[in-house]
Amino acid sequence: MTLPGTSLEGLRALVCGASRGIGRAAAEALATAGARVTGLARGRPQGALPFPLVAADLDDRPALARVVDRLLAEGGPFHVLVNNAGGPPAGPILEAGEQDFLAAFGRHVLASHHLVRSLLPGMREAGYGRIVNVVSTSVREPIPGLGVSNTIRGAMAAWAKTVSRELPPGVTINNVLPGYTDTERLSELREALARRTGQSPEQVQAGWLAPVPEGRLGRPAELGAVVAFLASPAAAFIRGASLPVDGGRLASV
Ligand SMILES: NC(=O)c1ccc[n+]([C@@H]2O[C@H](COP(=O)([O-])OP(=O)(O)OC[C@H]3O[C@@H](n4cnc5c(N)ncnc54)[C@H](OP(=O)(O)O)[C@@H]3O)[C@@H](O)[C@H]2O)c1
Repeated sequence: MTLPGTSLEGLRALVCGASRGIGRAAAEALATAGARVTGLARGRPQGALPFPLVAADLDDRPALARVVDRLLAEGGPFHVLVNNAGGPPAGPILEAGEQDFLAAFGRHVLASHHLVRSLLPGMREAGYGRIVNVVSTSVREPIPGLGVSNTIRGAMAAWAKTVSRELPPGVTINNVLPGYTDTERLSELREALARRTGQSPEQVQAGWLAPVPEGRLGRPAELGAVVAFLASPAAAFIRGASLPVDGGRLASV
């Protein structure tokens, strides 16, 4: 018996939020596994990337639609889609206004929904599709001080589970739930929390790490490796799952 492999040779991948952090690491892991990767982000990163990066704003769905249509027309179908974007600003939920929820819902759920609908015909025709959403452990256990984020992650997980029941055979969707991972986003959260609580950034981080059995932050490359696995033939029978990659922090079963 031949085991299905993890090579992505011959596959085309679209990775959102690919200019830095987890999205960039995912794009690099997909490219290393052999995929032809296109990244999306609003701005340019400092330094070169090992894949082309296209300018697009997930908050502007009409413009996003034009960019994706152009990419499909120019390069053919995508077999892999990574839905990933900057997280909503931190803060207590009772301080959030209506617009805060609407903006986050648009960037995460509506942009992902649009991309899935745009790329699905090509995946269906190819008989191969892998959609991987970068969400958060807050899907399982809401994180204090991330009110809007907790709410939107729950919506993403419910959306993805529902989509997983409608996709054709050969096309899967799964969620990766990062724990505390060493990216710019985390640095911003650490600073914001330190300002709000009067703690030092080091104290904030020590509090984060206390319940992590692995005793450290995650590395973006460790998240990227899981995205690449879920995108591979080896993950064909994993569908509608939410996989924590958190060094063991989640306490729930
Ligand atoms: N890091 C963690 O510890 C952690 C833990 C749990 C969950 N997460 C979640 O995982 C996701 C990725 O986290 P990260 O730490 O890698 O974030 P990050 O370092 O802030 O990177 C976010 C990426 O998304 C892009 N982006 C942001 N807004 C966008 C928009 N409107 N349109 C297109 N691209 C956009 C950014 O580039 P531009 O700004 O140039 O557009 C960047 O490439 C986030 O949703 C985050 O909340 C992270």
